Amino acid sequence: MRRRQFLQASAMASLSALAYPRSASAQMGGMPGMSGMMGRWFTSGSVWPTGLPLRQVDVLANTSLVADEFAGMLVAAPYLASLVSGHTTELWGYNNTFPGPLIELWEGQRVTINFANRLGLESTVHWHGLQVPADQDGSPMDPVAAGNDRAYTFDVPLGSAGTYWYHPHAHQTTTLQVGHGLAAPLIVRSADDPPATLPEVTLMVTSLSLDQSGRVATAATAMAGMGGMMMAGNGVLLVNGQKLPLHAMTPGATERWRIINATADRYLRLGLDGHRFTVVGTDGGLLGQPLPGLTEWLLAPAQRVEIVVTIAAQQSARHALRDLGYGGGMMGGAGGALMTVETGRGPAQAPVELPAVLRPVADLGPATAQQRVVLSAAGMGMMGPFLINGKSFDMNRVDLETVVGRVELWDLVNVTFMDHPIHIHGTQFQVVGRTVRGVAAPVGYPAWLDTVNVPAGETITIKTRQTLPGRRMFHCHILPHEDAGMMAVLDVQAS
Ligand code: C2O
Ligand code: CU
Ligand code: CU
Repeated sequence: MRRRQFLQASAMASLSALAYPRSASAQMGGMPGMSGMMGRWFTSGSVWPTGLPLRQVDVLANTSLVADEFAGMLVAAPYLASLVSGHTTELWGYNNTFPGPLIELWEGQRVTINFANRLGLESTVHWHGLQVPADQDGSPMDPVAAGNDRAYTFDVPLGSAGTYWYHPHAHQTTTLQVGHGLAAPLIVRSADDPPATLPEVTLMVTSLSLDQSGRVATAATAMAGMGGMMMAGNGVLLVNGQKLPLHAMTPGATERWRIINATADRYLRLGLDGHRFTVVGTDGGLLGQPLPGLTEWLLAPAQRVEIVVTIAAQQSARHALRDLGYGGGMMGGAGGALMTVETGRGPAQAPVELPAVLRPVADLGPATAQQRVVLSAAGMGMMGPFLINGKSFDMNRVDLETVVGRVELWDLVNVTFMDHPIHIHGTQFQVVGRTVRGVAAPVGYPAWLDTVNVPAGETITIKTRQTLPGRRMFHCHILPHEDAGMMAVLDVQAS
């Protein structure tokens, strides 16, 4: 039943999605310099419209005629968008949308995505968090040159149902590309999904820095990431491409929100005014049991969370979903409202009982090897550039080695003065230990993560295992840190 609804939704979305590629990519291909022309025409400041109804991200059409297969087309190209009043902004988009189209997959599906790079520089598509073969992972070792096409092919692993995203991962230009709008959600569905009865909303949080003439200001983004990082800074936080949209709910209604932190460098300490919420899933999908009664949740760059929200039964009330601000080991972290939830005038909806058990998060088993990953700053600088095990990224060097199937404990040791969200490609791992100033601290409950925040001065221990051979990246997901070399190579040997 759910699958059928999904297919219908895809079919409807295809009407809008199919119209663009040939004409748009042909006109816009290889012309990222257009922003220079736009700037001369406008002089006043940027005013973002707020309070518009929350829009749903477009769904990428499945053009495959074969059951259990997904085929789709992504064109990365510059295009002009109307974001702030009085200005046109050159964004770089997948299929001319911001965020890019949602890819909805099912466990076990065979996937082919044809990618056309119509940007003026090399790019890749990286399927963040999904366990796909190393040569389909869109790593910086495997770029698609400007003007070229390639197909990405992979099978969606069983047990991988969850919330992911995709973005470019080109050598040293990831901040630039993501900062221009190239990022999009990806959801893997499973027939076994206890919260599936709840209405679902995908909230893709991005940050966009525009200058006074409405142009993307990537230098400002890079500075924010290198130094002040969480200072309120230049980037405006957007939800599904909108500033402070309005999400309408029936009084007392319960919904499942999939929230994606797709910002280049912003921590989100999420809270909903006057409400508690329940976390049901993290990066790699559902938790074993719901985690109720929470007033906040820290979502590091690249992380995802699934929360269940029951809105108050009061009619015509407004509540803000907020970033409560987080310093990440530094000063600052101002935060602000992300989205307004407004209840209608209708009768209150009856409360919904969540299932007590979601999906078991199995232990990976006893670890047979240990690795140490030290995060440090180069030289005397507190602000970076940052290093992994004393080195800056070199894609021709192997930094760590493992073997397919080997369960390992990794100590992620942060000796810098700021937090770093560490991401490992090709796997979902579990946090099993935390050490604060030499003292063990509790870690909570088992959950699947592909990105973990390693707070300043702390050590986080994870249990991890790779399932496919090849070379994999692991890195800080504050994108300016990554571009500046806070990345390393894990060589996974066949067992
Ligand atoms: Cu989200 Cu190496 O990536
Ligand atoms: Cu990744
Ligand atoms: Cu970092």
